[in-house]
Amino acid sequence: MVARTSIVVVGGGLAGMSAAIEALRQTSHVAGVTVALLEKEGRTGGNSGKASSGINGVLTRTQKEKGIHDSVEAFVQDTLKSGHGRSNETLVGKLARDSTQAVSWLQDDFKLDLDVLARLGGHSFPRTHRRPDLDGKPQPVGWGIVSTLGRHLGELAALEDARFKLFTGARVIKLLPATHGGVAGVVYETVDADSKIIRQHSIHSDVVVLATGGFGGEGNRPRYLKKYAPHLMGLPATNGAFATGDGLGLAAALGAELVDMDQVQVHPTGFVKSSDPGNPTKFLAAEALRGEGGILLNGVGHRFVNELDTRDHVTDAMNKFCSAPNTRARHSDSVEEIPKEPLTAAFLVLSQAAADNFGQGALGFYEKMGLMSRAGSLEELATALRVDLVVLRKTLEDHDGARDNGTHDEYGKSVFPQRALNPLDKPQMNYYWGIVTPSIHYTMGGIRFDDMTRVLRAADGAPIPGLLAAGEVTGGLHGANRLGGNSLLECVVYGREAGRQAAILATSTSY
Ligand SMILES: Cc1cc2nc3c(=O)[nH]c(=O)nc-3n(C[C@H](O)[C@H](O)[C@H](O)COP(=O)(O)OP(=O)(O)OC[C@H]3O[C@@H](n4cnc5c(N)ncnc54)[C@H](O)[C@@H]3O)c2cc1C
Ligand SMILES: *[C@@H]1O[C@H](CO)[C@@H](O)[C@H](O)[C@H]1NC(C)=O
Repeated sequence: MVARTSIVVVGGGLAGMSAAIEALRQTSHVAGVTVALLEKEGRTGGNSGKASSGINGVLTRTQKEKGIHDSVEAFVQDTLKSGHGRSNETLVGKLARDSTQAVSWLQDDFKLDLDVLARLGGHSFPRTHRRPDLDGKPQPVGWGIVSTLGRHLGELAALEDARFKLFTGARVIKLLPATHGGVAGVVYETVDADSKIIRQHSIHSDVVVLATGGFGGEGNRPRYLKKYAPHLMGLPATNGAFATGDGLGLAAALGAELVDMDQVQVHPTGFVKSSDPGNPTKFLAAEALRGEGGILLNGVGHRFVNELDTRDHVTDAMNKFCSAPNTRARHSDSVEEIPKEPLTAAFLVLSQAAADNFGQGALGFYEKMGLMSRAGSLEELATALRVDLVVLRKTLEDHDGARDNGTHDEYGKSVFPQRALNPLDKPQMNYYWGIVTPSIHYTMGGIRFDDMTRVLRAADGAPIPGLLAAGEVTGGLHGANRLGGNSLLECVVYGREAGRQAAILATSTSY
């Protein structure tokens, strides 16, 4: 058991892994600097491993290859606009400036094929990078990234004179205070698998990096949600059950400030599984489904929103136009049945062209999971959705008409990635559809930190010595609404920054 290490990273998602890897790289020439990563689950990955839409970056190799003339400034403006004036401009500026490097770090250092670009809601250019299908099989982007970085860390831990140790099943329950008001290490507990005895351990360290993620997975034990956003209690969520905001309490106990805690992102499209509509955990319908041309319909077959608007706007529109009782998507077979399904639900529909762009592999995965179905014709689609065929055809034709006119439609949509209606002379083409409902997805608020990832004290705004934070556990970067693709990016940009800062602190104290 290590009782002492230079740097402790808490949380094994993308932010924690990026911090650990960068800290190790920066200190490779310094004898005696060691890093430990503590993860409470049996495996690393966190919510990062669930990400399906991708990671943002401007001026990347991929953008250049595709001739997209994006800029740091445009990215900053999109992010600030999405945050409704609540985001810290310094933090946003660094996110955008470092995005080129962040994507190339993954592409070049880890050979990740992030070569597919989508334009997600609220973005003025295609800048969200994900992986292509491989031999017809989907390569989910979040899982691809965390498993590759996890393999790398595993190799480092296996080295004979390893400077790195990974502990899984290790839940950090307390930060050890230092005499000078900073942090001196962590207390964590493990559970013996056979005897179920809980054991406590301490590690003393110079630096602690908090990377424990958000609190969107509190489920039926809402603590932060109950305190800060009670109006959202009862909504389903896309998060893993480990996302309970542990780092917030750990940091607050040392005097850290928490900001924007009431800012919780509700993603408009959590899949409602027809066979299990009441399940509080929803599988996310990737934003790229809309980014590649998927459209949203209410229960009578009308569109009601610009599908590429920001998440908060799409969710608001769904609550307004797709709620019980009149326009609810009818996904219960019996009208007498007591509806256990969510009160707000819409149909997500893709033409064959949109489906091809999204990737048949990933789409096939949703079909296998019972989350999406296919219809062989417009008639079949109308029957499946139980909407009027004439209404449905007109909806799709209107969408495509606006696309052909090259202007914007009545919902303000001006970018139409694909046609909604399959060509009538191609009878072998399908429609793909699913039911979606607003679901708690991401917590914008969290620990107040600065662009050097230092955790700031509530009392005076000063950094707490030795305490750093990165990823979803932090607040202030996304303001009131996070743009799709900005979270994986924040994990890499601020995770690596935390690793650099940790290396500096650990190196200076070891002399
Ligand atoms: C379904 C889904 C899809 C998403 N898609 C995208 C996308 O396409 N693009 C994008 O940018 N963002 C996406 N996001 C958001 C993004 O994935 C997350 O916000 C981000 O990855 C969070 O990373 P993190 O490292 O901060 O936290 P996580 O990846 O959640 O990792 C935190 C880790 O800390 C561990 N932990 C927590 N408490 C403790 C403790 N006390 N002791 C030890 N360990 C602890 C957890 O078990 C977890 O493994 C998506 C989120 C979800 C849920
Ligand atoms: C934004 O963050 C920077 C440091 O990262 C800090 O100096 C500044 O005060 C913050 N601005 C606001 C408005 O909080």
